[in-house]
This record gives sequence, C-alpha cells and structure tokens, in this order.
Amino acid sequence: MIIVIIGAQWGDEGKGKVVDLLADRFDIVSRYQGGHNAGHSVYVGDRAFVLRLLPSGIIHEDKTCVLGNGMVIDPKAFFEEIDQIAEQGVEVSPERLKVSSRAHLIMPYHRALDHTSEERLGNEKIGTTLRGIGPAYEDKAGRRGIRVADAMSPEILKLRIERNLEEANRIIVLYGTQPLRADEILAEMTPLVERLRPFVCETSHFLAEARKAKKKILLEGAQATLLDVDHGTYPYVTSSNPTAGGASVGAGIPPHHITGVLGIVRTYATRVGEGPFPTEMLDTEEPIAHLIRERGNEYGSVTKRPRRCGWFDAVATRYAAELNGFDSIALTKLDVLDELDEIKVCVGYTINGERVDTFPAVSHDLRQIEPIYETLPGWKSDTLGITEFDRLPVNAQRYVRFLSEHVGVEIGLISTGPERDQTIILKDSVMEGWFTN
Ligand code: GDP
Ligand code: IMO
Ligand code: MG
Repeated sequence: MIIVIIGAQWGDEGKGKVVDLLADRFDIVSRYQGGHNAGHSVYVGDRAFVLRLLPSGIIHEDKTCVLGNGMVIDPKAFFEEIDQIAEQGVEVSPERLKVSSRAHLIMPYHRALDHTSEERLGNEKIGTTLRGIGPAYEDKAGRRGIRVADAMSPEILKLRIERNLEEANRIIVLYGTQPLRADEILAEMTPLVERLRPFVCETSHFLAEARKAKKKILLEGAQATLLDVDHGTYPYVTSSNPTAGGASVGAGIPPHHITGVLGIVRTYATRVGEGPFPTEMLDTEEPIAHLIRERGNEYGSVTKRPRRCGWFDAVATRYAAELNGFDSIALTKLDVLDELDEIKVCVGYTINGERVDTFPAVSHDLRQIEPIYETLPGWKSDTLGITEFDRLPVNAQRYVRFLSEHVGVEIGLISTGPERDQTIILKDSVMEGWFTN
C-alpha cells in the first residue's frame, strides 16, 4: 500500500499531525519534494516537534524515513534538525534514514540568491521563506545543480561550487552584497558532506524493493496544491510539485503503484507570503481573523510570520481534489472555529460580474474575484478533543457535511486538536480502511 498525503490549500493544513497519526500503520515515510521551507508540527504528549526536512514519521523510532530525489537538501539544516530531535530524545541513524543520491543540495549561494531575487522584485516579491529553495530548483532545471551523488566526489564538489559561484557572485555583488568565497563554502560543506555519506541511498530502488516486500509506504507532501509551480497561483508559488503527480516523480515510484491519495484540508484557509487569496478575511473581519490566528496559532512554524486568514474556499478545494484525485479528506482544526457565531464558505466566484466555476490561471484574475458566500451558523461550544462524530454539536456536523458535499470527496478524518488522540475517524470511510489495513 502506498498512500500520498497532500496539502489542499496554501500549506500548513496540518499535514504533520496526520502523517504522524498514520505513520503508526505504515513502515516507511518518504518526502518527495521541497526542502526546509516546510514546517510540520507534531505534538506527542509534552513534546513538540517541528519537522522541516525530515519526514514526520521520524518520531516513530521503528519507522524508516526517506528523503526523495525530488527534494532540495541543505546539508547544514539537515544535521541541525537531526541534532535538534536527538536532543528531544529521538535518535536518527543511517539505518532508518535514507537520502536520495539524486536529490539536489542547497548551497549558501542559493540562500543569497533567494534574498537578491526577492529584493529585485520589490512590491512584486513572492514572500519566500528565504531558504534558497527556488534558486536550488533553478539550478536543477538549468542542469548545473549539485546532487547528493555528485557531492560525494570531492573533485566534482569543488569544481561545481567554483563554477556555479562565479555566476552567482555576479548577481550577488550587483545588490551590494559581499561576494561569497568558494574556499569558505567548500570548507563548510566538506565535513557536512562526509557526515551525509552513510545516509546516501538509491532511494527509488529501496522503495521499489520495500513495495515488493509488501511494506506500507506513506508519501508526505510538503507545501500544498495552490503553491504547486504548475497548478498553483503562479508566480506566487514554491518551485516544486507538491501535487500527486509530483509524488511519483519525486519519490521515483511508478504512478500506478500509488494506492490512494489523501487531501489535508483545514476548516478555513491561510496563506503565508504574498499572492492572491480570494477568501482572505477583509479588514472589517479582522477581529475574526485575529481570533482564528490566536486560537489556531497561525504563525509560520519556520519563519514565525503571521499567517493571512480566510474563509473556506470550496472552489479552490474542489480544484485541488480534481487535480490530485483525493480518495479521502482529513479535515483539520475544527476546534479553532468553536467560538464563531457564523461561518462563511465560498461556494463560487464572480469576476467582473461573470460567474466562474474553475480556478483561474492568472493571478490578476484571482485578485479580482468576488467570492460567493453561503453563511452557516456556528456551534458555539467546545469541540476540542472530541473523538466521535456523533458527539459533535449538530451545527459542526452540518458544517463538515456541507464542506464534503461542496468539495465532492468524503471527509474520513476530522481533527479536533493538535494531539494524536484529538481525532475522529469516520466509520466506513476509505480513510478507516487505511488505518485498519
Ligand atoms: P503542516 O505544515 O501542514 O504540517 O501544518 P503546520 O504544522 O505548519 O501547522 C498546523 C498547526 O496546527 C500545527 O501547529 C498543528 O499542531 C496544529 N494543528 C493540527 N491539527 C489541529 C487541530 O485539529 N486543531 C488545532 N487547534 N490545531 C491543530
Ligand atoms: P508546509 O509544508 C506555507 C510559501 C512561502 C512563499 C512561497 C514560496 O509547512 O505547508 P519558497 O521558500 O518555497 O520559495 O516560498 O511558498 N511556502 C509555504 N507556505 N507552508 C509551507 O510549507 C510553505 N513552504 C513555502 O511562504 O509564499
Ligand atoms: Mg507548515
């Protein structure tokens, strides 16, 4: 069994919590795209983990985790994270963490270029995490990137750093920043790369063998559908493919071997960074946005930036369901809406007075969208930690059913708090099958 987990909105839907929950029933958890721009929070008892590069399954010490070929890996961030979770009592050895030889490395000049690129864009900036993600993927597509396998040869590493830095420095100095030095980068990278060596693996082969041995594999998406470089709100996107097709490419798994796709959807929407957000709460709704931000702790887990908050967008989520082929949805953060009198759901769009039923490609159009809302009554009572659907207030049940009908996919899991056991698994759902098989 191979299941892919995908964010359906603009990220931070609660993928980490759901992966951690499901990981118990799986043998291997693999990331397939992105890098340490992700921030997946997992709470286990009194321990709080924020996973950036490592799959959220790493907390389970009997699971094997994989960093797939579609990822971009900052070696420094990789070991900082390993050391951080070791401090929290989770040991990570090369036996249970495999890094693809074909993944690309993020170098210090990628970080510098992320800064200069944002500076150049000024008001049009993307609002990236400044981790060097975009420039590393640019080098990959430009066929000059440094892959993990390349870095294992000291000569190739030196040659590529020198050659790539020459070009990077031309841009860096244009912005009045000190040029970087190849010898310093090499001195920083060499010990990190040596420490990385035992983790390096032909991960697609490893996963293929695992599948043959009937091992269960969970593919953990980072970022989300609307941040996908092909399908998202371009150019306000990340530089990888978090969508389901990206899982096949980025983990090196044949598409027909994937058994199911799980969408992670919040009961409302958020966005960090710039870019269109049709259902963003208006200034007059700031008290509600404030309430949600505080109750939902909507601050970037990596950058600590306050997240922009908005109403549930059924058009965008339906688009995500169609693109990814969601078999089931995990609906997170129901409890965050507990205090609201009324809850709005966007069920359609109009642009210049015309009804639009598909998600527009052009970000200019997306900015002009007027959402068509339906307003549902709130439930005004505590749902935190409820574990059975029938125990939810009637209006909360209604809200969940309304979202499922408008997105056209079953809701198989409802999350009622950040902890593992604050979860409802819906009976007779596809999701229940994944938990019990
Ligand atoms: P990810 O990037 O998709 O893994 O999501 P993040 O970890 O960045 O953000 C989700 C935040 O919501 C984390 O702090 C989670 O612990 C928290 N969270 C997840 N599910 C729930 C829930 O059902 N209720 C509440 N209150 N918090 C949740
Ligand atoms: P998780 O996995 C939310 C956003 C950034 C920026 C855009 C491009 O925790 O859901 P990048 O640094 O990737 O080039 O930035 O994408 N972004 C995220 N937003 N959650 C994330 O990850 C994100 N990763 C990147 O804010 O708008
Ligand atoms: Mg996150």
